[in-house]
Amino acid sequence: MRRMLTTLAATLALALPAAGRAAWPDRPITLVVPFAAGGPTDVVARIVGEHMSRTLGQQIIVENVAGAGGTTASLRVAQTPPDGYTIEMGHMGTHGAAPGAYPDLKYDPLKDFEPIGLAAGTPIVVVARKDLAPKNLKEFVAYLKTSSEKLNEAHAGTGSVSFTTCSLFNSITGAKPTRVAYRGTGPALNDLVAGQVDYMCDQIVNLVPQIQAGTIKAYAVALPERSPALPNVPTTKEAGLPEFEVTAWNALFAPKGTPKDIIQKLNGALVKALEDQNTRKRLLDLGADLSNKAAVSPDGLRKLVESEVPRWKKVLASAGTSKEAPVKDADPKK
Ligand code: MLT
Repeated sequence: MRRMLTTLAATLALALPAAGRAAWPDRPITLVVPFAAGGPTDVVARIVGEHMSRTLGQQIIVENVAGAGGTTASLRVAQTPPDGYTIEMGHMGTHGAAPGAYPDLKYDPLKDFEPIGLAAGTPIVVVARKDLAPKNLKEFVAYLKTSSEKLNEAHAGTGSVSFTTCSLFNSITGAKPTRVAYRGTGPALNDLVAGQVDYMCDQIVNLVPQIQAGTIKAYAVALPERSPALPNVPTTKEAGLPEFEVTAWNALFAPKGTPKDIIQKLNGALVKALEDQNTRKRLLDLGADLSNKAAVSPDGLRKLVESEVPRWKKVLASAGTSKEAPVKDADPKK
């Protein structure tokens, strides 16, 4: 009898909010996306956030805060009250490459955040404007060796996934393009379709519809095997560039100090979203990789960030720097 009462008390304690705090969540939650609307981070955030809001019983409002490769938003989120009402869809850039890209970064991806969980792996695709002369990756790499100075490469700001992965691509191929920063690869993709820029290394979830529609050219996907979402696009290995193999990732973070029971509820809602067949289908159809189940837990995500920060610091240190063009779609209000 006594043991039963003890268990019941323990269960109740878990279920009830910590003393003095109303049952969380009792109002809408802000999900900060550190890039312009329409890009890969935004796409993953809206798909996952939609299902999470059903589980949590509160609206999840996506707020796009662009700038400085996603670090502007990340710093802002790190400084918000740790009450579970502001979370961020960060990624391999904001919570992996940023410390290597910004020596004086004002936040620490581990010390200033509570990891909630990995939302999706996002393989990288090398894409170009559809009328660029090289017909395949081999020809493109040969073209880069002689003519890269004439080319403009689009990215989402220093330290972003597109910037970091194309830094690796450019260092492997010896390319030295003019690098054009955007507030996200959503706007950058519009310019690639319009032929205003020449190439980009972007996350697959941003590109599948345009590649399928033939409005841009996909040279290769940086995976060991072809993506089921792009069966006609060769891997970099098949196309003769095996050393360029990289998958980015998007994951949820809360400010340091967010109570554990709230992190557990947010993680529970994320897990449910990733178990939901419709949500999974939407992500998989866009080429997302949902195989890394370990990193969907807070501890698993912490381990991922611990390994990614030194990895990308090394890559950025060895990658050459190319000419930086001014930010192309700078916020007119700024
Ligand atoms: C990036 O890091 O390149 C971003 O994810 C692009 C974006 O989401 O707009």
